[in-house]
Amino acid sequence: MSRAIAIIGGTGPQGMGLALRWARAGEAVIIGSRDAARAQQAADSIRERVGSQAQVSGMENSAAAAATDLHALTVPFEGAAALLKQLKPAFRPGSVLIDTTVPLAASVGGRASRMLGVWQGSAAQQTAELVPKGVSVVAAFQNVSAEVLNGDDEVDCDVIVCSDDPNATQIAIELAAKIPRIRAIDGGKLENARIVEQITALLIGLNIRHKGHGGIRITGFADSVYKSA
Ligand SMILES: NC(=O)c1ccc[n+]([C@@H]2O[C@H](COP(=O)([O-])OP(=O)(O)OC[C@H]3O[C@@H](n4cnc5c(N)ncnc54)[C@H](OP(=O)(O)O)[C@@H]3O)[C@@H](O)[C@H]2O)c1
Repeated sequence: MSRAIAIIGGTGPQGMGLALRWARAGEAVIIGSRDAARAQQAADSIRERVGSQAQVSGMENSAAAAATDLHALTVPFEGAAALLKQLKPAFRPGSVLIDTTVPLAASVGGRASRMLGVWQGSAAQQTAELVPKGVSVVAAFQNVSAEVLNGDDEVDCDVIVCSDDPNATQIAIELAAKIPRIRAIDGGKLENARIVEQITALLIGLNIRHKGHGGIRITGFADSVYKSA
């Protein structure tokens, strides 16, 4: 049986884009926000686009986190640590949290095409340190443009999925593959998120230089390595 996906901080472009794509794929989505009314408005706007059959609701972040054991984190890096500490009691052991966050220098007033150094190695590894024991963190979707996710076109990007828990990797791979034309690839351990997050800063620089919404493709492996719809 599929379970609802709570998108923590889901009212921004990245959370809304994932909510739209997963709701279109028939997944149940809970949009989380610091403000329950804002979350409900966001859910209404997804329902308007997807249709009345969309399984989408909106809740304050801790209620959203407590309502399921599958989460995506889509807040800016500067807000992630404090929010995760606040949500700690809401996460159940055995939960999976998909971290999409990127520690861009823009978080501290720098350029979005540069990265911050994170003591743990990456935003995802910081997240893994902050969630309660028994919650698996999987890093994914950092390289997918929110602009593209919020549109109606297919998404021309591979999603590299990194986690120390193979079950969490599998869950994120399956969710990524529900988005048309995305191919998901097992990217190995969570520590590899350090590299994947940095690709986002490169893509932002390329987007500015070439005026577009670039993505990545990893080539050269057997078809069985890639999971897609
Ligand atoms: N945008 C992209 O193209 C893209 C692509 C790949 C990855 N990402 C990553 O995805 C994450 C979200 O990106 P975004 O562009 O959607 O971000 P955003 O619009 O700046 O923020 C998303 C939501 O997070 C909540 N939020 C903002 N500041 C917060 C704080 N200090 N504490 C708690 N919640 C806070 C807000 O929701 P409420 O006010 O409703 O609580 C906001 O709507 C980022 O880490 C980014 O690096 C983004």
